Amino acid sequence: MEKFVINGGTPLTGEVTISGAKNAALAIIPAAILSRDVCRIENLPVSISDVSFMMKTLRHIGAGVKLIDKNTIEIDSRHVNSYVISHDMTKHLRASYYFIGALLGRFGRARVAMPGGCYLGPRPIDQHIKGFEALGANVTIDDSAIVDTSANKLTGSPVYLDVVSVGATVNIMLAASRAEGLTVIENAAKEPHIVDLANFLNSMGADVRGAGTDVIKIRGVENLHGCTYSIIPDQIEAGTFMVAAAATRGDVLIKNVIPKHMDSITTKLIECGATVEEFDEAVRVTMDSRPKKCNIKTMPHPGFPTDMHPQFAVLLSLAEGTSIISESIWSNRFRYTEQLARMGADINVDGQLAMIHGVDHLKGAPVKADDLRAGAAVVIAGLAASGRTEIEDILHIDRGYENVVEKFGNLGADIRRVYCVEPFNIGDVG
Ligand code: UD1
Repeated sequence: MEKFVINGGTPLTGEVTISGAKNAALAIIPAAILSRDVCRIENLPVSISDVSFMMKTLRHIGAGVKLIDKNTIEIDSRHVNSYVISHDMTKHLRASYYFIGALLGRFGRARVAMPGGCYLGPRPIDQHIKGFEALGANVTIDDSAIVDTSANKLTGSPVYLDVVSVGATVNIMLAASRAEGLTVIENAAKEPHIVDLANFLNSMGADVRGAGTDVIKIRGVENLHGCTYSIIPDQIEAGTFMVAAAATRGDVLIKNVIPKHMDSITTKLIECGATVEEFDEAVRVTMDSRPKKCNIKTMPHPGFPTDMHPQFAVLLSLAEGTSIISESIWSNRFRYTEQLARMGADINVDGQLAMIHGVDHLKGAPVKADDLRAGAAVVIAGLAASGRTEIEDILHIDRGYENVVEKFGNLGADIRRVYCVEPFNIGDVG
């Protein structure tokens, strides 16, 4: 078992370089199999475990995956030979369901087990299915929770999404890239990684227009070719470092960032009293006083991202006054508040609302990472708190943050990864 041990209370200072976007990578990796060729993907966060699982899945279906350097891989899709992906492969992460759209586009058939991933509440896939069916596929989900999708021919079609879904938008884009004719996705998600996926598909010869707006038009093509593509910087990793800088009252230059992607986060940090300077590909965050309260409501892009509210809850726990966070995407995303309460935070949760009464300071405590962004929140809390924090279940953090110990360590944090033997449970004997 591994833990993080943090001795907190030191303001973060210095520079950090943000990795490639996890959420873009998780859509682009399966997209590569739509070509029968070789794609080189740069600025890939290779060492996060979500990306490792996607690469393992690629190998499982016959693709070649070659590591070129620490952030570049080549995917050789010439010999992909299976449209079946079992639960063993999909149980680790949500994004494995992108193989449904990609395999459907490639073979006209996909048998993929229902995905795992962070538990944030029920995670339906009805909008994905609606999209596949609109393209002419038959979809069944059998007793073993295998999604079986097949089509004699995929035909472009209008698809109106009843809810703004990143996952459904990606999956429909993947399948539609190889359909015959025009697919129009209305009420599409507009996240930066949707635009990145569209740019990647277009680099392979696809015809995708309108990504970044709520209407995406995909004219299917017969063949896609290999390409070289560099993934955008990770909006949420950048936001996590921005909030960590503010919560520790530090001064951090965050490099390899697209400042425009950070707008909703920057606005809220400024409302909390931080100074945010924007450069071409960097932002600098400084904070020298106690944060001010502010209210947050999560929304699809360009609204405030659901993946950033746990980190903000830490900052607001230290603010003067009472703040409210309203979560509108997921029904079960506030479990981390119990961990923050162990560190002295004063948070009342009522359904999808959290009322945060700011306290003077947080104190170190043994806590755990409930999921990926909950893990980011307890790391920030540990960095800002006085004393020692030990964080268990850090596998969730390793899913999405590359070199997190090194990056925070370089900013002056006292954070270590320690290996410890599982506690011996006498009840297990005999
Ligand atoms: C969502 C977030 C994304 C975040 C990720 C992990 C949005 C729009 N999406 O993406 O920013 O990185 O969680 O925290 O903010 N839904 C349906 N039917 C479907 C698909 C989705 O009802 O077929 C609902 C979901 O229950 C949820 C909402 O739509 O309430 C958004 O889901 P979706 O965007 O698909 O989830 P992710 O792609 O995981």
